[in-house]
Amino acid sequence: MKTILDFIEAKKNKKKITMISTYDYWSAMLCEKAGIDCILVGDSLGMVIQGKETTLPVKLEEMIYHTKAVKKGAPNTFIIVDMPFMSYQVNKDEAVKNAGKILKETGANAVKLEGGEEIAEIVEKMVSVGIPVMGHLGLTPQSVHALGGYRVQGRTKEQQKKIIKDSKILEQAGVFSIVLEAVPSYLAEEITEFLEIPTIGIGAGNKTDGQVLVLHDLIGIFETTPKFVKKYMEAGKLIVESLEKFKQEVQEGIFPDKEHTYE
Ligand code: KIV
Repeated sequence: MKTILDFIEAKKNKKKITMISTYDYWSAMLCEKAGIDCILVGDSLGMVIQGKETTLPVKLEEMIYHTKAVKKGAPNTFIIVDMPFMSYQVNKDEAVKNAGKILKETGANAVKLEGGEEIAEIVEKMVSVGIPVMGHLGLTPQSVHALGGYRVQGRTKEQQKKIIKDSKILEQAGVFSIVLEAVPSYLAEEITEFLEIPTIGIGAGNKTDGQVLVLHDLIGIFETTPKFVKKYMEAGKLIVESLEKFKQEVQEGIFPDKEHTYE
């Protein structure tokens, strides 16, 4: 199993880090089989699994439920869990208690929090009690309403300055890595160069220290995906074709045949 030290070492050795966001037993098992460096149990499960419009309604108990399944499927992979909206923003004590609950009940290794300066004290407290924290800057989906939608961040000088400042503050606060989401490539490159901790990009170009994608995007479950998603297969299409074939064969009495029948 990798540790936070391995991720920092990977950056030093210029070895790219791979992270996949996924939420259940079978997919975690496949990620481990493929040698993916770490799994994020993302609160994107609110949209991908629950079909919601945003990640905001996701509950702490739901994150714990999904992480337990992921841990079963990938017992030897470093697992990071998104702390859901309002499970860490209210106060430090509640944040630490919730992060501790996640790690105790699931066997996960770290938590991820969205935000910069405004959560620095919370990060410091978590790190001081032994909870590894990953940061998340740029497009932070829990702030979708404040950002005015899912849009690229860091296009203006002012936004760039804030993201750069936040990344330094988070590093200082003790995060072991930072996700940079939907920011221009040159900005992600600049941040990656001055930080000692690794950056993991999503929609941030190829100069970050690692990359993360949501599994369901990568395998092509959904027809429409953001520009930054590369579909490595068309699983959605293949699944529909298989279901259509199943329906047809059942209706025509072709399935089950002798091979799939007990005598
Ligand atoms: O929730 C999630 O899956 C994420 C990744 C896309 C970085 O935060």
